[in-house]
Amino acid sequence: MTTINDQQLVAAAIAASQHAYIPYSRYAVGAALLAGDGTLYTGCNVESASFSPTICAERTALVKAISEGQRDFMAVAVATRDAGSPCGVCRQLLYEFSPSMRVILADLDGNLRLTTTLEELLPHGFGPFDLYAE
Ligand code: THU
Repeated sequence: MTTINDQQLVAAAIAASQHAYIPYSRYAVGAALLAGDGTLYTGCNVESASFSPTICAERTALVKAISEGQRDFMAVAVATRDAGSPCGVCRQLLYEFSPSMRVILADLDGNLRLTTTLEELLPHGFGPFDLYAE
């Protein structure tokens, strides 16, 4: 398994941000998601003239990974011009699979601004175990 460090994960997120389809917000986001087996999945935000179909970069990467059979993740790097933080919807969907994954926030110059965990970003979250519990 090839190991990838945080800086490389951020570089992949920055590269993905270059594909962002953002005619409305002009706010490019790139995400790079590292699966438990070391496979990397990237995503960008894709906007719509109808606005609500817009999908965030993090969920683009996540659905790519899930659709290829991955279910657990070690880390996600997100890159934006201001090292923006994942939205609540993305936090929730990432939490579904790997609450303890690391989250690395960076700007588009590759500066790592924050390294945290999903549980820190979504404390006391609601997840699959809440439905499985007796
Ligand atoms: N966006 C993301 O891609 N990820 C987030 O976590 C926050 C917001 C996108 C959605 C939209 O295309 C643009 O950023 C402005 O909200």
